[in-house]
Amino acid sequence: MLKGDMMFDSASLNVNSQGHLVIGGCDTVSLANRYGTPLYLMDETAIRTTLQGYKKSVDDNLKNGGMVAYASKACSFKEIYRIVMQEDCGIDVVSGGELYTAMQVGFPAERIFLHGNNKSDMELRMALNYGVGRIVVDNLTELKRLSDITKRMGKSTDIYLRITPGIEAHTHDFIRTGQIDSKFGITLENGDGLRAVKEAVKLNGITLKGLHCHIGSQIFDEKPFIFAAQTMLKFMAEIREITGLTLCELDLGGGFGVKYTEKDNPKKCADYMYLVSEALKEAADKLNFPMPYIVIEPGRSVVASSGITLYTIGSIKDIPGVRSYISIDGGMTDNPRYALYKAPYTALIANKANLPADSVYTIAGRCCESGDLIQENAILQSCQRGDILAVLSTGAYNYSMSSNYNRLPRPAVIMIKDGDSRVVVKAEDYEDIVRNDL
Ligand code: LLP
Repeated sequence: MLKGDMMFDSASLNVNSQGHLVIGGCDTVSLANRYGTPLYLMDETAIRTTLQGYKKSVDDNLKNGGMVAYASKACSFKEIYRIVMQEDCGIDVVSGGELYTAMQVGFPAERIFLHGNNKSDMELRMALNYGVGRIVVDNLTELKRLSDITKRMGKSTDIYLRITPGIEAHTHDFIRTGQIDSKFGITLENGDGLRAVKEAVKLNGITLKGLHCHIGSQIFDEKPFIFAAQTMLKFMAEIREITGLTLCELDLGGGFGVKYTEKDNPKKCADYMYLVSEALKEAADKLNFPMPYIVIEPGRSVVASSGITLYTIGSIKDIPGVRSYISIDGGMTDNPRYALYKAPYTALIANKANLPADSVYTIAGRCCESGDLIQENAILQSCQRGDILAVLSTGAYNYSMSSNYNRLPRPAVIMIKDGDSRVVVKAEDYEDIVRNDL
């Protein structure tokens, strides 16, 4: 039997009397039978509860207000944008594709933040046409390009400058974005930050409203967030001193960690917000600078633990003295995170969730690629062909990072709410696979 508190970070998961894993009141084995596998499942209540928690922590802690802008790269499809819109939050988008998807459901453009280190002219034009709230300018060349485009279009826009505050956030190398050697943002240390501010205030068509930083992802320690917030506020005070401009908005990005395995111990979002806002208040007092309007951009922590993925176990290969492989009907195409980052996950056999997890397996995907693994040496219930494997906390950066490698169609996404399920993204079929082939 699983130790509930250890396995189930999400309140929506439990085990029913048949020993089946349940999500949001739905039996996962029945869902696998009904919709087929592989299958992404997401619990709507969990997503809404997390967003409400973030919103409340912003309202409770920030007297000059703030906004929760869901970083939709974590998981992007129409229904997610509808949910975020109904919860009165904003969104961060990083491409024309994400922006287009959000606009298709009527997402309020003024609550959209457009990011990206290499936005195309077309994407900038699209953002200006839709009238997105803030374009987050990533570099000095983009600043000039954007001003030129506004001129040609006869439009104007509010912007933030993305600043790289040079903070080491103790996370996986591939997803660390705050330090000096980063493709993202304008470096603070070498004076580029100040140069960009001086340039921005001179250019036509753009109004500099504030600054942005994002120091990395899957961070558990509050200290780098606090340090980033203080560094940015200090820079805002320096800008006021040198240029006379008082910037009133500060976007602190995302990066809050989530629980993938029992080793992870993330703080509650309210705790992060409390600690960061206390540090900000103290810094604002010390610098005699007005407390800015704060934007946060959580992505992973909004959706990760709301989601699980179901697979059917096919081949089982035992190599005595080496390891036992179980092969599933999905893999790196629907979850590339182990192949990319050796990302840890917790898995279990959904139809045997009440049995002891006492066997060790390496979970292999079905792609022609030795590195196509979901997890090595996972401790699971004893497996047989036909069992349903559930991988937990897959709501973030799984569907959004999926591919058609080996021409595998992407699985459906099913939204679960209070014991009901509905398809929110249809499964791809072979017609979808050849759709653009000529
Ligand atoms: N804001 C900006 C500007 C970002 O670049 C990101 C993530 C976020 C917000 C949201 O961060 P989160 O709260 O999700 O940590 N594919 C990687 C994660 C890449 C994150 C990139 N930026 C993974 O699967 O772990």
